[in-house]
Amino acid sequence: MTRHTVKTEEDILKAFEGESRAKWTYKAFADKAEQEGNHEVAKLFRAAAASEEIHANSLLRALQEMSRATNELWVSGMYDPKMVKDTTAENLREAIGENSELSQLYPGMIQDAEKDGWSFARECFTYAGAVDKVYDSLFKNALQNLGEKKSVDYFVCESCGNTIDHKPADSCNVCGSAESAFKMVQ
Ligand SMILES: [Fe+2]
Repeated sequence: MTRHTVKTEEDILKAFEGESRAKWTYKAFADKAEQEGNHEVAKLFRAAAASEEIHANSLLRALQEMSRATNELWVSGMYDPKMVKDTTAENLREAIGENSELSQLYPGMIQDAEKDGWSFARECFTYAGAVDKVYDSLFKNALQNLGEKKSVDYFVCESCGNTIDHKPADSCNVCGSAESAFKMVQ
């Protein structure tokens, strides 16, 4: 491959860092929500962490496909414990902001990967960007319904990280995987 692939490599690093940091941050947000006795929002944050982990792992595979050393990436993708706020309401607002920051990067990255001819990287960016939009609405709903004791079960597509708040009845509308690809988050 010629060096014009560099832009896609940079994009993958940036996306990986964001998705990986988000994964650890959402896990911490889930712990905070459990402490507050808010099991429902804790489940949503655990679903988000599982989804971000799927994206981080697939981005890593895309990077490995480009034969890059990856050892230091786990460090730069770590979350900052200071990100965890005093309340779950604040954590939900933080999650909405963080999520929207990341999702704005993906359309450009998809174009870069297309130009560079890296189809797997393109697929990773496409899925991560689509699922970030899904989380935007899940987080906003959770913020709106905070305090209500309605029980919600979240199902995460193991292939693309797509997440639904009801039993899967159809194939994944992001990646097309069969409904059996959806796993319920405890
Ligand atoms: Fe999917």
